[in-house]
Amino acid sequence: MAFPQSFIEDLIARSDIVDVVGSYVRLTKRSGANYFGLCPFHNERTPSFSVNPSEQFYYCFGCGKGGGVINFIMEIENLPYPDAVAHLAQRAGMQLPEESFDPNAKKRTRMLALNKDAARFFYEQLSTPNGARAGNYMRERRISPAVATRFGLGYAPDSWDSLMKAMSAKGYQEYELFEADLIRQRSRGGFYDTFRNRLMFPIIDVRGDVIGFSGRIIGDGEPKYLNSRDTLVYNKGRNLFALNLAKKSKSGYIILSEGNIDIVSLHQAGFDSAVASLGTSLTPEQARLLSRYTKQVIIAYDNDGAGIKAAQRAISILERLDIKVKVLRMNGAKDPDEFIRLRGADAFRQLLEGSEDQIEYRLNVVGAKYDLSQDDQKVAYLQEAAQLIASLPSSVAREVYASRVAAQTGVGQDAVIAEVRRNRKKIVNRAIKTEEQRITRPEQAVQPVAKELRYSDPVSAVAEEGIIRLLFRDPALISVPELPDPEDFSSDTLAGIYRLLRKRITAGEIPDINSMTAELSPEEMNLLVSILQKPELLSGSKSALQDYTRRIHDQKELHTENGTEDLNALRERLKERKGYHQ
Ligand code: CTP
Ligand code: MN
Repeated sequence: MAFPQSFIEDLIARSDIVDVVGSYVRLTKRSGANYFGLCPFHNERTPSFSVNPSEQFYYCFGCGKGGGVINFIMEIENLPYPDAVAHLAQRAGMQLPEESFDPNAKKRTRMLALNKDAARFFYEQLSTPNGARAGNYMRERRISPAVATRFGLGYAPDSWDSLMKAMSAKGYQEYELFEADLIRQRSRGGFYDTFRNRLMFPIIDVRGDVIGFSGRIIGDGEPKYLNSRDTLVYNKGRNLFALNLAKKSKSGYIILSEGNIDIVSLHQAGFDSAVASLGTSLTPEQARLLSRYTKQVIIAYDNDGAGIKAAQRAISILERLDIKVKVLRMNGAKDPDEFIRLRGADAFRQLLEGSEDQIEYRLNVVGAKYDLSQDDQKVAYLQEAAQLIASLPSSVAREVYASRVAAQTGVGQDAVIAEVRRNRKKIVNRAIKTEEQRITRPEQAVQPVAKELRYSDPVSAVAEEGIIRLLFRDPALISVPELPDPEDFSSDTLAGIYRLLRKRITAGEIPDINSMTAELSPEEMNLLVSILQKPELLSGSKSALQDYTRRIHDQKELHTENGTEDLNALRERLKERKGYHQ
């Protein structure tokens, strides 16, 4: 449903917002640049509906609706985006472009067909004499033929052009194989098969399409894995290996692991809800994808430093989406594959059932850093552990873990509990201060009109809004090094808008509300326009930007220390006590 960008730009240029809105609403020009009228979207007697002719958007101060000219038609005529575009095109006397429905659609379909044929080719190789090497390797790794078939595993022959030949016999062009990253180009010219002499794992999305491949070397060697580059149909940060199978599981949770081989082993042992991120650490997009299928994730990463770090990152990404997270600790094995091989599926199931929640996991991580036979290290451990425990919302849980730490270190229980209380007090005080700031600065309390977009952290959200506003007004700020990462944002919606904005500016475009309509929902457009409508509180754009970034980072830190649930509960209590009303 994407129209060519040039067409949309042309359409917008020929659909002046004052004209278009003016045919529905009587607009008058008062002082200043804006036109005002009675809002067509809610009942009112004094005009709070404004149209900004220079930036070509409308915004109602009364009900918070806002957007560009296409939004206006969508809203007032109650039309979906493509129909609103058609409506405006007719009004402007413009012909709709022929191939207006996704110019890439044909290419995409064709690439998916090619990938599927390639997967079939790799699979068929398993039963040829060449493929025996892969067969032997799978036996060595104890992958059964049944599971290999379930995953569609295959073998890429040890040859420079066997896939190329097989696919061109099926009528695919060289450039098509190249665009699918199935062949790569030599620097001297000419092409060669990307995957050679590898055990092939097709990557299949939730619709069942083969979108890419991951190839493991047979035996030892470097690189161990070769993966498809991103293509028209594949983006490694947005997909998860085996989610096509795991989404059908009835287990109620998803097991998140790292290795392709681990996933195959897990499924073979009956754990049919295992998925892996594709050679990256878990991305927010992957987490969102997971959240469509489950409310609980059990992390089973490799049992090493890198695995522990990756798990901690994954925890914070998943928790932001209200996903419950547990972490498995596999003693005596480096990964799930090895654990199951050494100890069996039942032992793994026990591990799953008893798997630790994150506080226990975090305590263990902290504990591993210190040598508890040394007094000074013991003290340092106690302090860090007390900080962690203090962040637990439940007072019972705080006592339980405090006494556990006491027993572990041989320190008196009362002393540990006192230390936890001290830390707890700090956290509470900090939260109260934040809350008071929020209440005494009403401009910071403004929540989006749409309930589902409400900010979990208004203090950070105000700064996030500020960043968006500054960048919109002054795109040159894109090169300021302190610009925060979208992942640092507390609001997913604002992060999405920010990402889009950055993409546009980096592509050399001047940000424009109207051209963002296709990629944002109407609610998001309302929000964006309301953000641009607010006065900029900080002046001096570069230092303002640094200021906002600092605030976002501070808030993020506060949350990782405390857990949002806790803060929300606190807020509620504060409100009751002081008699504030939202
Ligand atoms: N990976 C990668 N490129 C590499 C190494 C790893 O893309 N050079 C990705 C792969 O997706 C791999 C995952 O990281 O599956 C985990 O790596 P590793 O644990 O080394 O692989 P396993 O699949 O577990 O293989 P094995 O059990 O044979 O070690
Ligand atoms: Mn592994």
